Amino acid sequence: MNRSGRTLPVAAVAGAAVVAMAVLSGWCDAGATSAFVRKVEKTVDMPLDSDVFRVPCGYNAPQQVHITQGDHDGKAMIVSWVTLDEPGSNLVLYGTSENNLKFLAKGKVHRYRYYNYTSGYIHHSTLRHLEYDTKYYYVLGVGQTPRKFWFRTPPKVGPDVPFTFGLIGDLGQSYDSNITLSHYELNPSKGQAVLYVGDLSYADNYPNHDNVRWDTWGRFLERSTAYQPWIWTAGNHELDFAPEIGETEPFKPFKNRYHVPFKASGSTSPFWYSVKIGSAYIIVLASYSAYGKYTPQYKWLEAELPKVNRSETPWLIVLVHSPWYNSYNYHYMEGETMRVIFEPWLVKYKVDVVFSGHVHAYERSERISNIAYNIVNVKCMPVPDPSAPVYITIGDGGNLEGLAANMTEPQPDYSAYREASFGHAIFNIKNRTHAYYAWHRNQDGFAVESDSMWFFNRFWHPVEESSDST
Ligand SMILES: *[C@@H]1O[C@H](CO)[C@@H](O)[C@H](O)[C@H]1NC(C)=O
Ligand SMILES: *[C@@H]1O[C@H](CO)[C@@H](O)[C@H](O)[C@H]1NC(C)=O
Ligand SMILES: *[C@@H]1O[C@H](CO)[C@@H](O)[C@H](O)[C@H]1NC(C)=O
Ligand SMILES: *[C@@H]1O[C@H](CO)[C@@H](O)[C@H](O)[C@H]1NC(C)=O
Ligand SMILES: *[C@@H]1O[C@H](CO)[C@@H](O)[C@H](O)[C@H]1NC(C)=O
Ligand SMILES: [Fe+2]
Repeated sequence: MNRSGRTLPVAAVAGAAVVAMAVLSGWCDAGATSAFVRKVEKTVDMPLDSDVFRVPCGYNAPQQVHITQGDHDGKAMIVSWVTLDEPGSNLVLYGTSENNLKFLAKGKVHRYRYYNYTSGYIHHSTLRHLEYDTKYYYVLGVGQTPRKFWFRTPPKVGPDVPFTFGLIGDLGQSYDSNITLSHYELNPSKGQAVLYVGDLSYADNYPNHDNVRWDTWGRFLERSTAYQPWIWTAGNHELDFAPEIGETEPFKPFKNRYHVPFKASGSTSPFWYSVKIGSAYIIVLASYSAYGKYTPQYKWLEAELPKVNRSETPWLIVLVHSPWYNSYNYHYMEGETMRVIFEPWLVKYKVDVVFSGHVHAYERSERISNIAYNIVNVKCMPVPDPSAPVYITIGDGGNLEGLAANMTEPQPDYSAYREASFGHAIFNIKNRTHAYYAWHRNQDGFAVESDSMWFFNRFWHPVEESSDST
């Protein structure tokens, strides 16, 4: 129905969604390609002297502060920061009262080298035995230039706990990246944690992967990452594999800078792991680590999925950088081999939604699966499947590489909505049956929803859903 790319009035699109629902099982022209198409241009990175990259004042002041969940169920937080002049204090003072930081955690500090770049002193410290749903203040830079921040721990894990996730991918550090982050911060839905689907700084686009751009990215993001946990997924821009300059250890800068609690979920690698947050079970997968049969990631996921208890965490969410369903001409079918291997499990275990990045645009799929094919039966097309996840590509954070605007035509039936604009999304869990999802394009006011959908939980309420795009 909107194949021609004309803009439809809101009411017509809403009506179309209802029709689409009714005929979905028989396949129809349900997909819409947005008419909101803009010029494809490279966007540029903010210059080094931009306000967002400013180094905090004071001798050896802690910078690039970021936090992420530090255990499997939300009672620990990993706090990370960088000092430039000397290692300085490795202590984190923290507490629930701003004037009485009665707890103390010790961290570890290290540096790494990359080609001719030497990093600052990178600190990681895990605060443990935290209370659920509690505001903590914390201070870094003890004894030199103290800086104070705060965060709120997630509520106790349980089936009807409301929780609001932000979704951002492929952010980079362009002017558009700053707009995306600002819109997320100002979104009235108030995200409590970010599910980040990979490709962070894009430092690898600079000569010798200039790691100074990892530092600027850390400072740029601090205004959000110091105050709420960001759950990290590794993308291809984290590989930093550059044998031509002698850098042969994949993921070196990312692994040194962004720690995740992978051991808490029995993983042997920081690139695939899981965390429980409120009523959600988040599984992070690695597009750029081996996933074939018998590999560590394969064996981990095989053992992990049966562990998810939907009576405890109804919402099962998967993050993976390279999308399995993507109808843009960019990175076309790059996610295909992983899809072939893992998709049957995601359908079997009724994953609610898979979020990906990589393609610098937005796309939401119908609930479909493509798992019947066995080489000789010709069943190689995606079909509607109420047990299948919705696939959402949200690689539209706004990095310097620009937008992906070239789409495969005609729009495949499995693609519900696609648009080449920068933006972010919100996944707002209400209870065990309902979650409200909305995508926000940067060109609109931060409260405007350009694509939205009520998600019905696949375990507790597996009935058909409706969506709305404008
Ligand atoms: C690293 O090498 C490049 C050229 O190879 C040079 O432009 C740059 O200034 C060097 N950086 C440092 C920190 O030495
Ligand atoms: C980035 O966004 C913030 C908040 O909207 C603004 O204060 C700042 O000036 C922006 N910086 C650049 C370089 O665009
Ligand atoms: C699943 O979680 C529920 C609610 O927390 C609990 O009562 C039940 O024992 C758990 N089931 C298993 C198999 O652990
Ligand atoms: C879009 O991608 C297709 C397939 O890669 C290519 O043949 C075509 O030239 C591209 N169109 C534009 C306008 O770049
Ligand atoms: C779950 O949330 C939805 C949306 O807010 C609401 O309509 C529904 O009544 C809630 N279910 C229960 C059992 O409270
Ligand atoms: Fe990517």
